[in-house]
Amino acid sequence: METDLQNDLNGIYNLYGKLKWREKTVINSRFAYMPIKIIDKLLPKRGKIIDLGCGHGAMTNYLALKNSERTITGIDLSASRIEIAEKSVGNRENIKYVVSDAVEYEFENAQGVLLCEILNILTFDKQKKLLEICYNGLSKDGVLIFKDVKKENSYRYYTIFIIELIVIIIQKCCLFLLRLLSKKLEKKFDEFFSLYFGKRTYQLKPNFSTKEKIEKMLSEIGFKYENITFQNKFFYPQIMYYCVKK
Ligand SMILES: C[S@@+](CC[C@H](N)C(=O)[O-])C[C@H]1O[C@@H](n2cnc3c(N)ncnc32)[C@H](O)[C@@H]1O
Repeated sequence: METDLQNDLNGIYNLYGKLKWREKTVINSRFAYMPIKIIDKLLPKRGKIIDLGCGHGAMTNYLALKNSERTITGIDLSASRIEIAEKSVGNRENIKYVVSDAVEYEFENAQGVLLCEILNILTFDKQKKLLEICYNGLSKDGVLIFKDVKKENSYRYYTIFIIELIVIIIQKCCLFLLRLLSKKLEKKFDEFFSLYFGKRTYQLKPNFSTKEKIEKMLSEIGFKYENITFQNKFFYPQIMYYCVKK
Protein backbone atom coordinates (compact mmCIF):
# COMPACT_ATOMS: atom_id res chain seq x y z
CA MET A 1 0.00 0.00 0.00
CA GLU A 2 1.22 3.56 -0.70
CA THR A 3 2.78 5.23 2.36
CA ASP A 4 0.26 8.10 2.62
CA LEU A 5 -2.64 5.66 2.34
CA GLN A 6 -1.06 3.42 4.99
CA ASN A 7 -0.74 6.48 7.26
CA ASP A 8 -4.40 7.33 6.66
CA LEU A 9 -5.36 3.75 7.44
CA ASN A 10 -3.35 3.82 10.68
CA GLY A 11 -5.21 7.03 11.63
CA ILE A 12 -8.52 5.31 10.90
CA TYR A 13 -7.59 2.24 13.03
CA ASN A 14 -6.85 4.58 15.91
CA LEU A 15 -10.40 5.94 15.73
CA TYR A 16 -11.83 2.48 16.40
CA GLY A 17 -9.80 1.80 19.53
CA LYS A 18 -9.24 -1.90 20.13
CA LEU A 19 -10.22 -4.01 17.14
CA LYS A 20 -10.06 -7.80 16.91
CA TRP A 21 -7.52 -8.98 14.31
CA ARG A 22 -10.38 -10.41 12.22
CA GLU A 23 -12.13 -7.02 12.12
CA LYS A 24 -8.83 -5.35 11.29
CA THR A 25 -8.28 -7.79 8.44
CA VAL A 26 -11.70 -7.06 6.91
CA ILE A 27 -11.13 -3.28 7.10
CA ASN A 28 -7.58 -3.56 5.80
CA SER A 29 -8.45 -5.81 2.87
CA ARG A 30 -11.15 -3.49 1.57
CA PHE A 31 -9.24 -0.30 2.19
CA ALA A 32 -6.02 -1.47 0.56
CA TYR A 33 -7.72 -2.27 -2.72
CA MET A 34 -10.26 0.54 -2.96
CA PRO A 35 -9.73 3.45 -5.37
CA ILE A 36 -10.44 5.55 -2.29
CA LYS A 37 -8.34 8.56 -3.34
CA ILE A 38 -10.30 8.81 -6.61
CA ILE A 39 -13.63 8.47 -4.79
CA ASP A 40 -12.54 11.24 -2.40
CA LYS A 41 -11.64 13.51 -5.34
CA LEU A 42 -14.93 12.87 -7.14
CA LEU A 43 -17.27 13.39 -4.19
CA PRO A 44 -18.24 16.97 -3.26
CA LYS A 45 -15.89 18.49 -0.68
CA ARG A 46 -18.70 19.84 1.47
CA GLY A 47 -22.33 19.15 2.25
CA LYS A 48 -24.42 16.12 3.01
CA ILE A 49 -22.92 12.82 1.85
CA ILE A 50 -24.64 9.43 2.23
CA ASP A 51 -22.65 6.18 2.09
CA LEU A 52 -25.16 3.39 1.41
CA GLY A 53 -23.90 -0.05 2.49
CA CYS A 54 -20.98 1.48 4.39
CA GLY A 55 -19.93 -1.76 6.14
CA HIS A 56 -17.55 -1.11 9.06
CA GLY A 57 -17.25 2.51 7.95
CA ALA A 58 -13.56 2.68 7.04
CA MET A 59 -14.21 4.47 3.76
CA THR A 60 -16.85 6.69 5.37
CA ASN A 61 -14.27 7.68 7.98
CA TYR A 62 -11.64 8.34 5.33
CA LEU A 63 -13.99 10.69 3.45
CA ALA A 64 -15.01 12.51 6.64
CA LEU A 65 -11.38 12.91 7.75
CA LYS A 66 -10.31 14.25 4.35
CA ASN A 67 -12.90 17.02 4.49
CA SER A 68 -14.44 18.20 7.73
CA GLU A 69 -17.01 20.22 5.76
CA ARG A 70 -18.61 16.97 4.68
CA THR A 71 -21.42 15.75 6.91
CA ILE A 72 -21.48 12.03 6.30
CA THR A 73 -24.04 9.37 7.18
CA GLY A 74 -23.07 5.74 6.76
CA ILE A 75 -25.97 3.31 6.32
CA ASP A 76 -25.78 -0.45 6.63
CA LEU A 77 -28.29 -3.21 7.28
CA SER A 78 -25.83 -5.13 9.43
CA ALA A 79 -26.23 -4.08 13.08
CA SER A 80 -22.92 -5.78 13.98
CA ARG A 81 -21.03 -3.81 11.31
CA ILE A 82 -22.64 -0.53 12.39
CA GLU A 83 -21.81 -1.32 16.02
CA ILE A 84 -18.13 -1.42 15.05
CA ALA A 85 -18.46 1.68 12.87
CA GLU A 86 -20.03 3.61 15.75
CA LYS A 87 -17.01 2.92 17.97
CA SER A 88 -15.02 5.16 15.63
CA VAL A 89 -17.24 8.25 15.86
CA GLY A 90 -15.99 9.64 19.21
CA ASN A 91 -16.95 13.29 19.58
CA ARG A 92 -16.85 14.11 15.87
CA GLU A 93 -20.02 15.80 14.69
CA ASN A 94 -19.67 15.41 10.94
CA ILE A 95 -20.16 11.65 10.87
CA LYS A 96 -22.83 9.22 12.01
CA TYR A 97 -23.84 5.66 11.32
CA VAL A 98 -27.36 4.27 11.04
CA VAL A 99 -28.66 0.70 10.84
CA SER A 100 -31.17 0.73 8.01
CA ASP A 101 -32.19 -1.04 4.88
CA ALA A 102 -30.79 1.18 2.12
CA VAL A 103 -33.77 0.28 -0.05
CA GLU A 104 -36.07 1.87 2.55
CA TYR A 105 -33.79 4.77 3.56
CA GLU A 106 -35.28 8.03 2.32
CA PHE A 107 -33.16 11.18 2.39
CA GLU A 108 -33.20 14.54 0.66
CA ASN A 109 -30.94 17.40 -0.46
CA ALA A 110 -27.75 15.34 -0.39
CA GLN A 111 -24.75 16.68 -2.28
CA GLY A 112 -23.23 13.26 -2.70
CA VAL A 113 -24.03 9.54 -2.45
CA LEU A 114 -21.59 6.63 -2.42
CA LEU A 115 -22.86 3.26 -3.62
CA CYS A 116 -19.96 0.89 -3.40
CA GLU A 117 -20.54 -2.81 -4.05
CA ILE A 118 -24.01 -3.02 -2.60
CA LEU A 119 -26.11 -3.16 -5.77
CA ASN A 120 -25.08 -6.72 -6.67
CA ILE A 121 -26.34 -7.88 -3.26
CA LEU A 122 -29.87 -6.80 -4.15
CA THR A 123 -32.40 -8.34 -6.49
CA PHE A 124 -32.69 -6.49 -9.83
CA ASP A 125 -35.99 -4.76 -8.92
CA LYS A 126 -34.45 -3.54 -5.65
CA GLN A 127 -31.36 -2.34 -7.54
CA LYS A 128 -33.50 -0.03 -9.64
CA LYS A 129 -35.41 1.11 -6.55
CA LEU A 130 -32.16 1.95 -4.74
CA LEU A 131 -30.84 3.95 -7.70
CA GLU A 132 -34.13 5.87 -7.75
CA ILE A 133 -33.80 6.58 -4.01
CA CYS A 134 -30.31 7.96 -4.71
CA TYR A 135 -31.59 10.13 -7.54
CA ASN A 136 -34.52 11.50 -5.52
CA GLY A 137 -32.35 12.09 -2.46
CA LEU A 138 -29.74 14.16 -4.32
CA SER A 139 -30.04 17.88 -4.78
CA LYS A 140 -29.70 19.30 -8.33
CA ASP A 141 -26.12 18.69 -9.56
CA GLY A 142 -25.65 16.22 -6.71
CA VAL A 143 -23.15 13.45 -7.37
CA LEU A 144 -23.51 9.68 -7.14
CA ILE A 145 -20.33 7.61 -7.12
CA PHE A 146 -21.23 4.13 -8.15
CA LYS A 147 -18.80 1.22 -8.05
CA ASP A 148 -19.53 -2.47 -8.42
CA VAL A 149 -18.35 -5.78 -9.78
CA LYS A 150 -18.67 -5.89 -13.57
CA LYS A 151 -20.28 -8.89 -15.22
CA GLU A 152 -18.19 -9.96 -18.19
CA ASN A 153 -17.02 -13.05 -19.98
CA SER A 154 -13.74 -13.68 -18.12
CA TYR A 155 -12.17 -16.12 -15.63
CA ARG A 156 -11.90 -13.32 -13.11
CA TYR A 157 -15.64 -12.74 -13.30
CA TYR A 158 -16.58 -16.42 -13.05
CA THR A 159 -14.24 -16.81 -10.07
CA ILE A 160 -15.96 -14.04 -8.09
CA PHE A 161 -19.37 -15.36 -9.16
CA ILE A 162 -18.57 -18.84 -7.79
CA ILE A 163 -17.05 -17.47 -4.56
CA GLU A 164 -20.13 -15.31 -3.95
CA LEU A 165 -22.47 -18.19 -4.79
CA ILE A 166 -20.70 -20.43 -2.25
CA VAL A 167 -20.93 -17.73 0.45
CA ILE A 168 -24.67 -17.27 -0.23
CA ILE A 169 -25.36 -21.03 -0.22
CA ILE A 170 -23.50 -21.49 3.10
CA GLN A 171 -25.35 -18.56 4.66
CA LYS A 172 -28.82 -19.60 3.47
CA CYS A 173 -28.34 -23.27 4.45
CA CYS A 174 -27.07 -22.36 7.95
CA LEU A 175 -29.91 -19.89 8.46
CA PHE A 176 -32.47 -22.46 7.32
CA LEU A 177 -31.14 -25.16 9.65
CA LEU A 178 -30.84 -22.80 12.63
CA ARG A 179 -34.36 -21.51 12.06
CA LEU A 180 -35.60 -25.05 12.66
CA LEU A 181 -33.80 -25.07 16.02
CA SER A 182 -34.50 -21.59 17.32
CA LYS A 183 -35.23 -18.11 15.98
CA LYS A 184 -32.75 -16.68 18.49
CA LEU A 185 -29.89 -18.83 17.17
CA GLU A 186 -30.79 -17.90 13.60
CA LYS A 187 -30.64 -14.19 14.46
CA LYS A 188 -27.32 -14.60 16.28
CA PHE A 189 -25.74 -16.43 13.36
CA ASP A 190 -27.11 -13.89 10.90
CA GLU A 191 -25.39 -11.03 12.75
CA PHE A 192 -22.15 -13.00 13.23
CA PHE A 193 -22.07 -13.90 9.55
CA SER A 194 -22.90 -10.37 8.41
CA LEU A 195 -20.05 -8.96 10.49
CA TYR A 196 -17.59 -10.74 8.19
CA PHE A 197 -19.50 -11.18 4.94
CA GLY A 198 -22.13 -8.41 5.06
CA LYS A 199 -25.91 -8.78 4.98
CA ARG A 200 -27.36 -10.63 2.05
CA THR A 201 -31.03 -10.33 2.91
CA TYR A 202 -32.64 -10.32 -0.52
CA GLN A 203 -30.06 -12.26 -2.42
CA LEU A 204 -30.42 -15.83 -3.73
CA LYS A 205 -27.54 -15.53 -6.20
CA PRO A 206 -24.98 -12.86 -7.14
CA ASN A 207 -26.79 -10.23 -9.21
CA PHE A 208 -23.87 -8.68 -11.07
CA SER A 209 -24.62 -6.54 -14.12
CA THR A 210 -22.88 -5.88 -17.38
CA LYS A 211 -21.62 -2.39 -18.26
CA GLU A 212 -24.54 -2.02 -20.69
CA LYS A 213 -27.13 -2.98 -18.09
CA ILE A 214 -25.73 -0.57 -15.48
CA GLU A 215 -25.62 2.28 -18.00
CA LYS A 216 -29.21 1.53 -19.09
CA MET A 217 -30.41 1.71 -15.46
CA LEU A 218 -28.51 4.95 -14.80
CA SER A 219 -29.84 6.71 -17.88
CA GLU A 220 -33.43 5.46 -17.42
CA ILE A 221 -33.39 6.99 -13.95
CA GLY A 222 -32.13 10.30 -15.34
CA PHE A 223 -28.46 10.39 -14.32
CA LYS A 224 -25.80 11.92 -16.57
CA TYR A 225 -22.85 9.59 -16.10
CA GLU A 226 -19.20 9.16 -16.94
CA ASN A 227 -17.30 5.89 -16.73
CA ILE A 228 -14.25 6.34 -14.48
CA THR A 229 -11.24 4.20 -15.24
CA PHE A 230 -8.87 3.35 -12.43
CA GLN A 231 -6.15 0.88 -11.61
CA ASN A 232 -8.03 -2.20 -10.45
CA LYS A 233 -6.15 -3.84 -7.57
CA PHE A 234 -8.90 -6.39 -6.83
CA PHE A 235 -8.77 -9.79 -8.54
CA TYR A 236 -12.29 -9.33 -9.94
CA PRO A 237 -13.52 -6.95 -12.67
CA GLN A 238 -14.90 -3.65 -11.41
CA ILE A 239 -16.67 -0.68 -12.87
CA MET A 240 -17.07 2.85 -11.54
CA TYR A 241 -19.27 5.78 -12.58
CA TYR A 242 -19.41 9.45 -11.74
CA CYS A 243 -23.11 10.29 -12.02
CA VAL A 244 -24.77 13.68 -11.77
CA LYS A 245 -28.42 14.56 -11.19
CA LYS A 246 -29.34 17.21 -13.77
C1 LIG B 1 -19.53 -5.68 -0.16
S1 LIG B 1 -19.94 -4.74 1.25
C2 LIG B 1 -19.35 -3.16 0.75
C3 LIG B 1 -19.01 -2.29 1.94
C4 LIG B 1 -18.41 -0.92 1.55
N1 LIG B 1 -19.34 -0.14 0.75
C5 LIG B 1 -17.13 -1.13 0.81
O1 LIG B 1 -17.15 -1.02 -0.42
O2 LIG B 1 -16.14 -1.43 1.46
C6 LIG B 1 -21.69 -4.53 1.08
C7 LIG B 1 -22.34 -3.94 2.31
O3 LIG B 1 -23.73 -3.69 2.04
C8 LIG B 1 -24.48 -4.06 3.20
N2 LIG B 1 -25.86 -4.33 2.79
C9 LIG B 1 -26.36 -5.41 2.16
N3 LIG B 1 -27.67 -5.26 1.91
C10 LIG B 1 -28.01 -4.04 2.41
C11 LIG B 1 -29.23 -3.30 2.46
N4 LIG B 1 -30.35 -3.78 1.95
N5 LIG B 1 -29.21 -2.08 3.04
C12 LIG B 1 -28.07 -1.57 3.57
N6 LIG B 1 -26.88 -2.22 3.55
C13 LIG B 1 -26.86 -3.44 2.97
C14 LIG B 1 -23.75 -5.26 3.76
O4 LIG B 1 -24.04 -5.49 5.12
C15 LIG B 1 -22.29 -4.87 3.53
O5 LIG B 1 -21.76 -4.18 4.62
